[in-house]
Amino acid sequence: MSTTLITNLSEAFTADAELRVVKDAAILIDGDKIAWIGPATEAPRAGKTIDAGHRAALPGWVDSHSHLVFAGDRSAEFVARMAGQDYAAGGIAVTTAATRAASDYDLTRLVMGRAAEALAGGTTYLETKTGYGLGVEEEARHARIASTVVDKVTFLGAHLVPAGMDAQEYTDLVCGEMLERVAPYVQFADVFCERGAFNEAQSRQVLTAARDAGLGLRVHGNQLGPGPGVQLAVEFGAASVDHVNYLDEADVTALAGSWKDWDAARRTGVPGTVATCLPACDLSTRQPLAPGRELLDAGVQIALASNCNPGTSYTSSMAFCVATAVLQMHLSIEEAIVAATYGGALALGVQEAVGSLEVGKRADIQLLNAPSVAHLAYRPGMNLTGPVFRAGVLAAGRL
Ligand code: NIG
Repeated sequence: MSTTLITNLSEAFTADAELRVVKDAAILIDGDKIAWIGPATEAPRAGKTIDAGHRAALPGWVDSHSHLVFAGDRSAEFVARMAGQDYAAGGIAVTTAATRAASDYDLTRLVMGRAAEALAGGTTYLETKTGYGLGVEEEARHARIASTVVDKVTFLGAHLVPAGMDAQEYTDLVCGEMLERVAPYVQFADVFCERGAFNEAQSRQVLTAARDAGLGLRVHGNQLGPGPGVQLAVEFGAASVDHVNYLDEADVTALAGSWKDWDAARRTGVPGTVATCLPACDLSTRQPLAPGRELLDAGVQIALASNCNPGTSYTSSMAFCVATAVLQMHLSIEEAIVAATYGGALALGVQEAVGSLEVGKRADIQLLNAPSVAHLAYRPGMNLTGPVFRAGVLAAGRL
């Protein structure tokens, strides 16, 4: 029998539509899938039994926004920011120079190391972006390397116009040769639609080209100030718009409306545009926190993601994002966990496969060294991640 029963769980938070908390629970894994979940006293027999030691269980995190393909260090920029300097998109160029200089071997090692850190923190499904190559060969190289390490790759050639290039000329390159070279390695394309990066017309051009190439879409929008990012994302049926710090009423209405527009959902295959909040980034750039509470209250689907990158958010700790969302953004612990699991899965279009503890889904399960999931916010900053199972296999931590 290839079944494993994880039993003696103090509780299992499913993060499914019913937000079930099963007390004194057990989970049966069959191969790489969840086969059963319920009270331990009713558990079926299994080939192997694991005693969870009265730990709590929840789905592995789904981190739907990160930028892990980079070399170099920008801690001096961070220190200057803490001393009062504003964050500006131009810092991306510093990382681009360092990343271009790194060999394939070094870059792969760096990405693998960061993915392993994320896994040890409970992240079992991981997206990452290109965007520090900013040239045809480099963007293709970064996409290829990323595709060997993470679950989903997003093409972000439209991250910054490289020095010495005309903005329109660069946008044309992104939408032409660069997109063509990168496409075999990626599932999504993204554009940094912001002052100092790409304007509305250029963003529209990037989204149109990516859509025509059959890629899913995402937008970096409304991060540093109000702008057209959110409206563009909804108009194009993007799977997500990320950052969402500066929203007006029309932005929130458009996002909420995207979840009720069945025609658009049928046309694009995307159920609605997820608003991805990145609280670690907001803290590190001293931007106002994304209005996660207001978005949820308005009926918008939100995700929480790490945005791990060297400029604005050098952490892959989803637990930190969840604690911040509870303590500072006024989400309940259940809402925050759902946003960091099922919400991320929705943003990546993989909600049928991962993102909650449900029969038939991949057995991506993290155990906490704590008796309840509330401890994630109750004990902020503590490393509570215990054993992490990915596709039914113990992938990090010790039993
Ligand atoms: O998501 N906003 C744009 N891109 C990254 C930051 C990149 C950098 O500064 O290196 C972000 O915050």
